Amino acid sequence: MDFYFSQSARGYVWVGSLLITLLAACGDDSTTTTADKGTSQDGMVVDAGLDTAADTSTAADTSTAADTSKADTAAGDASVPAGYKSAKIERGGLLYDRWWTITGGTAPTAIHSLYPTAGAQTGSTTHRCKECHGWDYKGKTGAYASGSHYTGIAGVLNTTKSIQDIFNLLKTGTHKFGTSLSDADIWDLVKFVKEGTFDMSTYIDSTAKTFKGTATSGKTLYDSSCMNCHDANGKKVNFGTTAAPAYVGTIAKSNPWEFMHKVMFGQPGTAGMGDAKQRTWTKTNVSDVGAHAQTLPTL
Ligand code: HEC
Ligand code: HEC
Repeated sequence: MDFYFSQSARGYVWVGSLLITLLAACGDDSTTTTADKGTSQDGMVVDAGLDTAADTSTAADTSTAADTSKADTAAGDASVPAGYKSAKIERGGLLYDRWWTITGGTAPTAIHSLYPTAGAQTGSTTHRCKECHGWDYKGKTGAYASGSHYTGIAGVLNTTKSIQDIFNLLKTGTHKFGTSLSDADIWDLVKFVKEGTFDMSTYIDSTAKTFKGTATSGKTLYDSSCMNCHDANGKKVNFGTTAAPAYVGTIAKSNPWEFMHKVMFGQPGTAGMGDAKQRTWTKTNVSDVGAHAQTLPTL
């Protein structure tokens, strides 16, 4: 799909077909001119280039959302830094997004030093882990392989770096987050990268952009955990603008990876939304809810 846009502080400049613009508007990282709550919808990126297999089976995932087995192992290992042992995967998942919303810090304004000059984004969004490494944690080999969020940067999924090396990379290394994030924040991020990330292609068909879960099971879960705030049709909270609304159904369709990340780990600044671990949901449960959410209205 051939569209492109650049984002200025309080508005958009869209270049591309009107139809695509209308469809895409719901799904982009954007500050909006009205009711700007720092909501983060993210890029319409097609041709994700992940697995093309038409796997419609539901993954047999019986683990709870935040698999604690690896953490338990680490906790008993004297060589594991104490900061890592007490770190929280879900909080790391929130920090992976707009971390300043979680720390209470100030949103950066300058473009992050690692952000490529050819990139289309500016300002604080270039400091979000997800902007360079993707909602699917696959960077340039995932949903950000093309489109306005392309950076050419690798993913973090299955990184072979040690926990200490990742900590150093983030704090004092190229990422330079040591001035804005505490050690505890960074450990949460390291733990999230090491233990919270997972291959979303098990749950989302990357080509069709559809959840592989079962919508009917998802409806039951949605009605008990989400409907209260979002209504049965997902339209109670508008994450977009009046002109270009974005609802639960819109995000589920335009960016299933963002949907999955946020339902797994939460929405920064909306503590009440909770995370999958709190709900004792498996990833398959999240995929089921995603499948249901994709049946909800997008406009
Ligand atoms: C502006 C872009 C950018 C942002 C934002 C960013 N990174 Fe990175 N990241 C990179 C680049 C480029 C590399 C590879 C080069 C390097 O190591 O510096 C990298 C490498 C990594 C690696 C090592 C992957 C490997 O196996 O080699 C990890 C882990 C990582 N980043 C985690 C994070 C986390 C967590 C955040 C958010 C706190 C983050 N990054 C934010 C650009 C970014
Ligand atoms: C306590 C109320 C509450 C509950 C419960 C809740 N949400 Fe939300 N959710 C919100 C609010 C408020 C926002 C918008 C936050 C913002 O604008 O930054 C939101 C945002 C979202 C977003 C879009 C975020 C974005 O920026 O694109 C999705 C998708 C979402 N919720 C799905 C769900 C699902 C699925 C559930 C059930 C598992 C759920 N929510 C439960 C309040 C809630």
